[in-house]
Amino acid sequence: MLKGKTVVVGVCGGIAAYKAVEVVSRLKKLNADVHVIMTKNAEKFVAPLTFRSICHNPVITDMFEEPKIWDIQHISLAQKADLVVVAPATANIIGKVAGGIADDMLSTTIMAAHSPVLFVPAMNDKMYENPIVQENIQKLALHGYLFMEPDTGLMACGTSGKGRFPSPERVVDYVKEILMRDADYEGLKILVTAGPTREPIDPVRYISNHSSGKMGYAVAKAALERGACVKLVTGPVNIAPPSGAEVVRVSSAVDMYNEVMKSYESFDVIVMVAAVADYRCASVSEKKIKKSGETLTIELVKNPDIAAELGKVKGDRILVGFSAETDNLLGNAVSKLALKNMDMIVANDVTMEGAGFGVDTNIVKLIKRGGSRIDLPVMSKENVAHKILDEVLSIRKR
Ligand code: PMT
Repeated sequence: MLKGKTVVVGVCGGIAAYKAVEVVSRLKKLNADVHVIMTKNAEKFVAPLTFRSICHNPVITDMFEEPKIWDIQHISLAQKADLVVVAPATANIIGKVAGGIADDMLSTTIMAAHSPVLFVPAMNDKMYENPIVQENIQKLALHGYLFMEPDTGLMACGTSGKGRFPSPERVVDYVKEILMRDADYEGLKILVTAGPTREPIDPVRYISNHSSGKMGYAVAKAALERGACVKLVTGPVNIAPPSGAEVVRVSSAVDMYNEVMKSYESFDVIVMVAAVADYRCASVSEKKIKKSGETLTIELVKNPDIAAELGKVKGDRILVGFSAETDNLLGNAVSKLALKNMDMIVANDVTMEGAGFGVDTNIVKLIKRGGSRIDLPVMSKENVAHKILDEVLSIRKR
């Protein structure tokens, strides 16, 4: 399944280093070309020979050891890799990369890599929760580095909490997802809505929200990268759409409703990222409203709910919605999922730092019809988009 793919596994010094042996073994069984780089401390937990026996490639432990091929090795492995997986990733390697330090073969390879880099953190729960570690994770996520959430449970140090290495099976499943993305949307048509809507009050004023379009544009871009044919229906934003998409610019919720309902039939997947205004002005003043009394009352009427309307007519198309919440995240998201007959909803707590409106990262939970849920750590919006698309494909395959 992974024939022709090169995976570099970076092993750091932590008790979970022994679980990396199973990760390497599983990748090898999938026919990946696996190369292992160990840090000095990793060697204290597992012998390089163990990895070499499994991956059938030399294990790199020292930049300067004989034969002296180090000057090209970090570059050649970094260039050759389709994916770098750092497992287990300690607070130390995360901190080093976040700080731009490249002082051994692993940190140097990560810095020089062109491929995606996936960190699988495993450490004491207090270390993982340390704000410095969390800031480093956020910083790296912003630059597109991928992270898996550690598991919660009893740890080697005797305490219980969040910091356990996830099961090797889960790590390899994620690796497969990343490596199999190349053209898995070829032949599929995706309709994406993005940005805010503007509900006019008079010729110079409107009601809107803080959506920048970044999340929706990231979904459109990721789908294009994976070979989909993409239509992007976008509210007014200040960012450039990804090239290759058919772009239709709209302003109000009613405009967006008309455009989406006109064309949804020819699409296989619809992803509703737009922050659509629930209400519009009952009447729009033709002239600028002049300042007069101490208060001004504007009557609002309900806008059409585009996602809910699609839910009624979608047939076997996959409908994905977002749920931007400031409280009761899961409760609200789950009821919208059911109410709008969606196949999946992306629950988005917009009060969290690094999530929601305007920023380049997001922190979301993917909830599918039937209740299964995936909690994602902070990720760039591009990587969130890819995870959404991964899950859409898994729904289609069912
Ligand atoms: O654009 P960014 O700055 O990157 O910010 C991203 C985001 C915060 C806008 C995005 O991640 C997000 O959460 N989008 C959904 C915002 C929203 O309107 O959520 P909602 O809970 O109000 O709506 C639920 C779903 O119904 C959404 O899929 C929405 O597109 C859809 N809807 C809502 C109202 C309406 N009248 N018609 C709709 O189709």
